[in-house]
Amino acid sequence: MRKKIILDTDPGIDDAMAILFAEAHPDIELVGITTVYGNATIENGTRNALYLKEEFNFRCDIAKGTEKPLQRPPVGATVVVHGETGFGDLHSSEPTHASADPRPAYQYIIDTIKANPGEITLVAVGPLTNLALALEADPAITSLVKEVVIMGGAFGMNNHRGNVTPFAEANIHDDPHAADKVFTANWPVVIIGLDVTEESFFSSDYIDELKSAGGKVGEFIWDVSRYYLRFYANKLGLHGCHVHDPSAIAYVINPELFTLREGPVRVVTDGPAEGLTLQKFDDRGYQTDEWKNMPAQQVGIAVDDQALLALYRESIINYGKQFD
Ligand code: RIB
Ligand code: CA
Repeated sequence: MRKKIILDTDPGIDDAMAILFAEAHPDIELVGITTVYGNATIENGTRNALYLKEEFNFRCDIAKGTEKPLQRPPVGATVVVHGETGFGDLHSSEPTHASADPRPAYQYIIDTIKANPGEITLVAVGPLTNLALALEADPAITSLVKEVVIMGGAFGMNNHRGNVTPFAEANIHDDPHAADKVFTANWPVVIIGLDVTEESFFSSDYIDELKSAGGKVGEFIWDVSRYYLRFYANKLGLHGCHVHDPSAIAYVINPELFTLREGPVRVVTDGPAEGLTLQKFDDRGYQTDEWKNMPAQQVGIAVDDQALLALYRESIINYGKQFD
């Protein structure tokens, strides 16, 4: 049976790579895309999602989410990485026929999980505000969701600690209060953070190959990633990019690509370490313990990067053939 997912996303260049991966793979049924501010404003990110739906004939729903974090002041769109409108040098046109679901994203998430008890995997690859709002509005969804898979956080494995501050990853830093709510809720969470996403790399040559063999889909990935690759080259001295959001989809398709570590996870919500994610993975007792009695969640600590790259390449190339 195909795995039904809702993909909560801030589209975003690597978000587009992840959305197309989810749509491409035959084991996934992309039921809905819910948008959130982050890489782009909520208006631009939602238009980008609708653009992809029209351009690649998606059947999924699209629901527009929130434009700001729960408590902290908004960080603002990540223009330096994703461009003015989220899609780098491309600027998505206004949709001609696709439109967003009338419900806000958090309500769409609640209704869809309730209509499909035990079947929906909630995959979130942006700030976790929509998920936190859904939890606040209807905590019963925790027992009805199949699994929650997050791209976010950094736990220091493989020396990966942060990408927007020395100790915080962007999605968690954008809304640390929401992330702490999501990680401490009583539902099964798998966290695919920088510890593993920065261990996989789409080289410039790899993306060139997608362009030449992946038809219209590969060409779009190549076009949208030009700005992103310039950021990587100019700021990080790398010729290619890390595999952030597509890694969360790879986990859904084949969890065996990843090694996981179990234990409760908390988020630092203010001060210089705002957005720092910390997992307690020993059983030691302490007099004061803010992790105690929190549900054990799973954190990705290793990945078979070559198998992940092969999975992505094969999925995109096969999907591209549909548009010949
Ligand atoms: O830190 C990487 C994450 O931040 C990705 O989800 C990227 O799209 C941005 O949202
Ligand atoms: Ca993202």
